[in-house]
Amino acid sequence: MIVIFGATGDLTRRKLIPALQNLFLKGKLKDRVVCLARKKYSRLEFLETLQTDRLIGEVSYSEEFLKLISYHFTDFSSPNIDYLKSVLTTDEEVTFYLAVGPELFQPITDIIRQLNLGRKKIVFEKPFGNDLESATRLNRCISKTFKEKEIYRIDHYLGKEMVQNILVFRFANSIFEHIWNSNFIKKVEIIISEEIGVEQRSDYYDKAGALRDMMQNHLLQLLALTAMSSPVSMKADDIRDEVADILRKVKTREITVAQYNSYRKEVNKLDSETETYVSLTLDIEDDKWREVPFVLTTGKKLAKRFAEINLIMKDVSCKLFSSDNKDQNIPNMISLKIQPNEGIIIKFNAKIPGTDMELQQVKMEFCHKCEFGPNTPEAYESLLQDIIEGDQTLFTRWDSVEASWRIIDPIIEKKNELSFYKEGSEVNL
Ligand SMILES: NC(=O)c1ccc[n+]([C@@H]2O[C@H](COP(=O)([O-])OP(=O)(O)OC[C@H]3O[C@@H](n4cnc5c(N)ncnc54)[C@H](OP(=O)(O)O)[C@@H]3O)[C@@H](O)[C@H]2O)c1
Repeated sequence: MIVIFGATGDLTRRKLIPALQNLFLKGKLKDRVVCLARKKYSRLEFLETLQTDRLIGEVSYSEEFLKLISYHFTDFSSPNIDYLKSVLTTDEEVTFYLAVGPELFQPITDIIRQLNLGRKKIVFEKPFGNDLESATRLNRCISKTFKEKEIYRIDHYLGKEMVQNILVFRFANSIFEHIWNSNFIKKVEIIISEEIGVEQRSDYYDKAGALRDMMQNHLLQLLALTAMSSPVSMKADDIRDEVADILRKVKTREITVAQYNSYRKEVNKLDSETETYVSLTLDIEDDKWREVPFVLTTGKKLAKRFAEINLIMKDVSCKLFSSDNKDQNIPNMISLKIQPNEGIIIKFNAKIPGTDMELQQVKMEFCHKCEFGPNTPEAYESLLQDIIEGDQTLFTRWDSVEASWRIIDPIIEKKNELSFYKEGSEVNL
């Protein structure tokens, strides 16, 4: 049985239910899905809201899938435990999915403790805590009811196909495995650039900012997958040991924070100091990455929506193609494209046809969609399948959450004065 807390919310309607239907159609979901939220819908009214959402996307839910779904309204702040016990009674394994704001994580964990069910898993959406102290408090609370192997902390970036490909690309290809270190790499850039602003999330966002909303989770997880050493096996805990190990070695070198010009008006708070853009230069205190800057950048209302990891290679040692006034060697670059067009691009120098020895940067491209077709599962579908199958590899373990907050907390404390940027700016302000 899957129990969704917060079933009328945006995440459930837009991501979770469509992903569950896809898993059902592939024969990977057989469990019933119990939906809980505060709105006083009947089951039929709830299903109608789902159908309306889905029809906007011109795909409707299958009748067979909808038969798995029930809906019960309840207020998680003052729940009727006896009623919930009657609804949720089962011998099956139960997966509790907390698709609610973080303020409800603790009350809902209390509800689950009182339900006293046998085999269980719990899934948390980000953000897991607001700083190290609150994350530790929350973790202590859930540890009373759940063991670490029952806890799935979602970072939906890790469900993206190209992010999972990072490990394959690095460790299944000798041409890359050997150059993946400071002997060959000059600099690493990790970028998540968004076109949208804060939209309807201003209350949450103004308290969080880009450091908590994006950097503490998505960008640091991408850094860990890019920089971690080879795990001894592909078992979840072996991979997560390496992730936590690399995060514990991160040191901050430079911080830039900024806010887009219309932000204060948009959130109706004229003195807001919340950063909508952040760029961090980080060092990793590890022989493998000595003196290689990792520049992590994310921002809202920028020119383009894209996410990528760029490895800029060191210059060639012998500059045969440089004349007195012109260095023709442009550093090689490996670019892992995470969205919107997934793939890998390698940029290198080639001779321009003709009698002169002139160089130009050219590229070789692996286009994921061209090779494997357009139907890559959405991140939430992959992650839900992993939860059903009990595979924790792509979920953040507590030690890595802790290590990430240890990086972010001091940055929040000492962040420099904000600068301001024009909407539609390029990612390098
Ligand atoms: N939306 C996304 O794309 C997205 C992406 C990544 C992460 N997340 C994370 O996912 C979580 C949920 O986000 P969301 O966008 O879906 O939020 P949302 O649209 O505000 O939905 C919140 C849900 O919680 C329910 N709820 C709130 N207080 C309740 C209470 N006291 N008792 C019972 N139900 C209550 C609401 O029920 P009623 O409507 O019935 O009141 C609603 O179903 C957040 O932690 C967010 O950071 C969301």
